[in-house]
Amino acid sequence: MNTDLYDVISRRRDVRAEFTGEPVPAEVLHRILAAAHAAPSVGLSQPWDFVLVHDEHIRRRFHDHVQAERETFAATLSGPEADRFARIKIDGVLEAGLSVVVTYDAQRGAPAVLGRHAIADAGLYSVCLAIQNLWLAATAEGLGVGWVSFYREEFLGELLGIPAGVRPVAWLCLGPVTHLEAVPDLERHGWRTRTPLEGLIHHDRW
Ligand SMILES: Cc1cc2nc3c(=O)[nH]c(=O)nc-3n(C[C@H](O)[C@H](O)[C@H](O)COP(=O)(O)O)c2cc1C
Repeated sequence: MNTDLYDVISRRRDVRAEFTGEPVPAEVLHRILAAAHAAPSVGLSQPWDFVLVHDEHIRRRFHDHVQAERETFAATLSGPEADRFARIKIDGVLEAGLSVVVTYDAQRGAPAVLGRHAIADAGLYSVCLAIQNLWLAATAEGLGVGWVSFYREEFLGELLGIPAGVRPVAWLCLGPVTHLEAVPDLERHGWRTRTPLEGLIHHDRW
């Protein structure tokens, strides 16, 4: 058994505060994107694109939007939950020098996407697999990734000039880090803990 993969899986973290802002070398970025592009996809549709955002002005505009969405969510909380959320950082958009926005094009390979006729979401599942490949490859390269979902799709589509019909699925901050935390931020801040696996396994029927 090769334990390297399991090691990378357990070291992978969602990163917000630990980005150094240093650049990602071009050949490393290419390896990471090639890993994402090697993901399985329904009907081999490969429905993903990767928008590489270096531009500081664009990242600042996105960050302002994320802050506003953070406030929208915060307004739904009260009591100790609101206090806990106030202490949690939810993005590293300004700290990381690069972000990768991964998109989903449902028209790629359509209409005869083999395996998607009954489950439309299978296209989105495929994009998420590319994202996970990217995340693990970045971890193997010693880099950090932070998934930011505090945004409205329409805003991001307009900000990046994403064609109509193509959906942004993830804004991923990517870059060198000081370190990867051993425990997820949300656990360290008492927001949630990882559920024991044993309670999630069902035999023969739910
Ligand atoms: C679909 C998705 C969206 C996420 N959105 C955010 C986000 O907007 N901000 C954030 O700080 N973390 C976000 N995360 C990261 C999760 O909070 C994180 O994966 C979880 O707390 C477990 O921590 P770990 O990834 O370090 O194991 C997101 C993760 C996923 C899979």
